[in-house]
Amino acid sequence: MMKKVITVFISLLMILSLAACGNFASQTGQPSTEEKPMESTADNVGSVESGTSVENTEATEKQPEETEASGNAGIPEDPEEQEEQGTKVLVAYFSATNITRGIAGHIANGLNADIYEIIPEEPYTDADLNYNDNNSRTTIEMNDPDARPAISGSVEDMEQYDIVFIGYPIWWGEAPRIVSTFVESYDFSGKTIVPFCTSGGSGVGSSATNLEQLTDGADWLPGKRLNGSDSQDTVMEWVNGLGLDFGE
Ligand SMILES: Cc1cc2nc3c(=O)[nH]c(=O)nc-3n(C[C@H](O)[C@H](O)[C@H](O)COP(=O)(O)O)c2cc1C
Repeated sequence: MMKKVITVFISLLMILSLAACGNFASQTGQPSTEEKPMESTADNVGSVESGTSVENTEATEKQPEETEASGNAGIPEDPEEQEEQGTKVLVAYFSATNITRGIAGHIANGLNADIYEIIPEEPYTDADLNYNDNNSRTTIEMNDPDARPAISGSVEDMEQYDIVFIGYPIWWGEAPRIVSTFVESYDFSGKTIVPFCTSGGSGVGSSATNLEQLTDGADWLPGKRLNGSDSQDTVMEWVNGLGLDFGE
């Protein structure tokens, strides 16, 4: 009997311990121990300042990239610098009897451009301009392709200009030699040059292409002969038809 009681007691003990092992096994099998650190980390990031500052740092780091992508790259914030980058136009001209001067004025007014008069160191007198005189100053100069009459003054900071109009009267089918002096006095490389002239009836002929030979690296547009009596509208019609970007 006693043996039976002990056997039953031992059996009960075994059943109880097996039940306890089963519970332990089921607890350790749960993924809760792995999830908890993740949950707590997420909670910490949400509540700890350092976590927030990390997010802000990332946002701050992205801002410069977004600024570049928005198309602002290369545009200076300084308005003066921006202006410097706009198209600048100069209208330079020589005029012995003021006809070409009027056309140059129309262009400069129409484009709100700077204007520069090529002034001879030694002014041309009426006698100098007498093309019927074989010994007049102009006849002598135009007979000598190497003549380079001196200019009084100079263009201040030619470098700033992108487009330069060059106006002159036709003398014996050519540009006056003083215009050769002018084009040889500056570096026009990278600039667009627009030659124009007035005359008693002759066309621009080879006057502009001969001037072009005296420069390097400039983009010369075909020369244009205008009438001294042309209105500003007529002149600007030609200017605006050149296909140039004047920046405004
Ligand atoms: C020395 C000299 C030569 C000229 N040669 C010509 C010429 O070959 N063909 C022409 O049509 N006009 C000729 N002209 C006239 C001028 O080209 C014309 O009057 C011009 O519009 C004057 O411009 P300006 O007042 O700007 O100097 C000549 C004028 C001078 C003074």
